Amino acid sequence: MTNAVSIKSGRLFFDGVDTTELAALYGTPLYVVSESIIKDRIARIKNEFLNKYPGTFAVYASKAFQTLEMCRLVASEGMGLDVVSAGEIFAALKAGADPSTLVFHGNAKTPDELRYAVQQGVGRIIADNLNEIAQLESLGAEFGKKIPVLYRITPGVDSHTHRFISTGSLDSKFGIPLNPEVRAAYMHAVLRSPHIDFRGFHFHVGSQLHDNFSHLAALDILLDLVRQVKAEFGFATREINLGGGFGIQYLPTDPDPGLSYFIEPMMKKIEEGFTSAGIPQPTVIIEPGRWIIGEAGLTLYTIGAKKEIPGIRTYLGVDGGMTDNIRPALYEARYHALIANKAERQGDTQVTVAGKCCESGDILIRDISLPDPQPGDILAVFSTGAYNHAMASNYNRIPRPAVVMVKNGSHHLSVRRETWEDLIAREL
Ligand code: LLP
Repeated sequence: MTNAVSIKSGRLFFDGVDTTELAALYGTPLYVVSESIIKDRIARIKNEFLNKYPGTFAVYASKAFQTLEMCRLVASEGMGLDVVSAGEIFAALKAGADPSTLVFHGNAKTPDELRYAVQQGVGRIIADNLNEIAQLESLGAEFGKKIPVLYRITPGVDSHTHRFISTGSLDSKFGIPLNPEVRAAYMHAVLRSPHIDFRGFHFHVGSQLHDNFSHLAALDILLDLVRQVKAEFGFATREINLGGGFGIQYLPTDPDPGLSYFIEPMMKKIEEGFTSAGIPQPTVIIEPGRWIIGEAGLTLYTIGAKKEIPGIRTYLGVDGGMTDNIRPALYEARYHALIANKAERQGDTQVTVAGKCCESGDILIRDISLPDPQPGDILAVFSTGAYNHAMASNYNRIPRPAVVMVKNGSHHLSVRRETWEDLIAREL
């Protein structure tokens, strides 16, 4: 899957660190995140996008995995951050991110969140409804600012991914519809507002996409819109944001399309579209989340119970589950795993890995072959960097795992494990 994974003396190493040692040192369940993989992904974004095309900017969709250290790492590489709540803005700023590099999304931003974003000087606000425009205009007047705004559009394309992570179709809570009357109302609202610096349009068609069809279809729609608003309102689009959604490998058999597969044809279309519309080339922004962090993470669990139901299946219980990885229960997501202390052995026993929550749906991996799994073995589940730590919960009062960063053989604690005291700390 990635060359940061290796096997030495029968044990699984990740970014040069023995994962069985990490499990012993920090305990399990444990999120392990490879800095080398993150940096490699960012280097690819630079080579295949930022340095290749002038007038581009990349932001990391921090909702995928937002820790202070991750924000610092991304910001130190010159990237911005996509944020979706005041909490994410707060953490990004605490980490030292430059507010002007933040892109603020959300279909239901609250008045307090908008005020905080404007006060802090967030670089771009992606507006999702007219109510937001009215609030931004008055905040701009109050703070004496001209607020950079883009509209998120609903392109109405069908993306080939799980329906819960598909966001671009017409019946969506995200984005503005493009019917002519609605479009006119939205354009009038921004063009009439002296405190709004309207820049252009954004789309995000969905997540974990392995083909570029919906990105390209959405871009065609966006380019039509660019021509229409030029003709109808004389507005020359200056900026477009293509969202994220670039797919990664969860299973060794998953396709790995890469970044250029998505970027190249889109950049070509943009260049042609703007040239033929007689508008100067716009700033182009992408905002990948999963593509940067997904394969950079793995989760270590200790195997506890082993239960054979003759003729039916064998369950392996682990010390985590849907509280640290909700994705199998929520999206039927599939994961690959191996036993870290028996890493060179071939699987010989078909099992189903179950989490420890009081919930029948708390199954991490259905039907995987592992080498004679036994209580006490360390299970390593791959590609858990995105939307695992970020979506973790305390269901059943289970403390959330620690995060350890690894890099070329060294490791350090980045987020400490929650304690039982943390679990009741907010209760009065
Ligand atoms: N930009 C916008 C406006 C988004 O809504 C998202 C993700 C991204 C960028 C980043 O998408 P990515 O590159 O990570 O695919 N919890 C789900 C994924 C939800 C994605 C939400 N929006 C999951 O675990 O699959």
